[in-house]
Amino acid sequence: MSSSKPVDREAPVQGCIVIHPDREGRGFARDTQARLEEAVGLALALDLEVRETVVAGLRRLTPATLFGKGKVEEIGKIVEALEADVAIVDDALTPVQQRNLEKAWQVKVIDRTGLILEIFARRARTREGRLQVELARLSYERSRLVRTWTHLERQRGGFGVMGGPGETQIETDRRLLADKIGKLKRELAEVRRTRTLQRSARKRHPYPTVALVGYTNAGKSTLFNRLTQSEVVAEDMLFATLDPTLRILKLPDGRPAIMSDTVGFISDLPHELVEAFRATLEEVREADVVLHVRDIASPDSQAQAQDVRKVLERLGVDMDERRILEVWNKTDLLPADDREGLMGDARRTHPPAILVSAVTGQGCDDLLSAVAGLVDEAPPVDVYAPAGEGAAIAWLYRHGRVIERAEGKDGGVRLAVSLSPQAMGQFEQLFPAIPVTAH
Ligand code: GTP
Repeated sequence: MSSSKPVDREAPVQGCIVIHPDREGRGFARDTQARLEEAVGLALALDLEVRETVVAGLRRLTPATLFGKGKVEEIGKIVEALEADVAIVDDALTPVQQRNLEKAWQVKVIDRTGLILEIFARRARTREGRLQVELARLSYERSRLVRTWTHLERQRGGFGVMGGPGETQIETDRRLLADKIGKLKRELAEVRRTRTLQRSARKRHPYPTVALVGYTNAGKSTLFNRLTQSEVVAEDMLFATLDPTLRILKLPDGRPAIMSDTVGFISDLPHELVEAFRATLEEVREADVVLHVRDIASPDSQAQAQDVRKVLERLGVDMDERRILEVWNKTDLLPADDREGLMGDARRTHPPAILVSAVTGQGCDDLLSAVAGLVDEAPPVDVYAPAGEGAAIAWLYRHGRVIERAEGKDGGVRLAVSLSPQAMGQFEQLFPAIPVTAH
């Protein structure tokens, strides 16, 4: 974990068992073992001690407990023998199933959405992020007919879903829950308003923007810290007010760019969270270059990359048009032979992937040069699009950075826009009748 994430040293270690329900014929994208390993990884991300893993076949569905009676008893024995505090079920549980399993096993039961919400709660990097997860958490609880108030009380570093089996089951109060959700929404709206103001301030300084995305644990924060560490920005008023996930990056020729870090992605990201993070991920949608950071040393690297691409698509990031550069991180963990092979593979991707180690710094100079190449732009040009040429305007907004806009009396629009040489060529081909002049 990077230094930006506090570690709660006082919390006692909690033991868990991870159960992956194997629903035959449901056509999972990954094989069972990989799914199980991923669930274990998520449990470890919460500092849980994984004492046992179980793949539980589901031949018939048992609505009350998900697993059949025999399976419930069998798992109960394991839970007891290992003195586990938490049982993680790597699937969606209905509230009734969760309650019945808790009763049968006498431990806290967390399903996949609960687990992911807890991870996101701990790792949220900004106030907005924290509010978003909290809201997602409350909406999730509400949709499940909230059971206890302890679920709402924030504990250090999380939401207390792991509060332990001893908690009292208090009667729910929907009105109070609705109040709490309303208050959170208002707070969030205020934070967003500030961020929108900041973003429009940034637009007046049209520095290129670079966004980091990647599967959870890929090394985004580590890379973010490494690439931006030497920059002191405190005196600069514009950047002094920046969100902590935004920092200045110096490209090799000294030009500044703005770099943004995002939350980590996870496979089958629960719907609540994709919605919750839509606003934060606007930075990604608007970025000039998106760096997709991958843990290339993980055996699950391919599947993780696929998951990240799926989430990006769900967020409306246009995968074809975008300048997405893959960053293959953690190369220091690979034997030299594997690294050689990977270099060949990297050259065959488009644009070629860059091999780095965020920990040793190896490859980071190459990465910065590649980023500079992607954001390289000619000086701004003026484009006048007469009325009815909305498509050209939309195209310029998508492919360039618009610096000024003026509406003409005849309904036309004049834009001052910065375009890469490549984009300029494309524009001239696509819209040959629209004049482009020097700014
Ligand atoms: P999320 O916050 O979950 O999205 O994670 P992240 O992508 O920001 O990952 P983070 O930077 O927190 O790194 C995760 C773990 O990988 C940490 O323990 C890092 O020290 C480690 N790590 C990151 N980059 C490298 C690398 O290049 N080599 C090695 N060996 N470890 C790395």
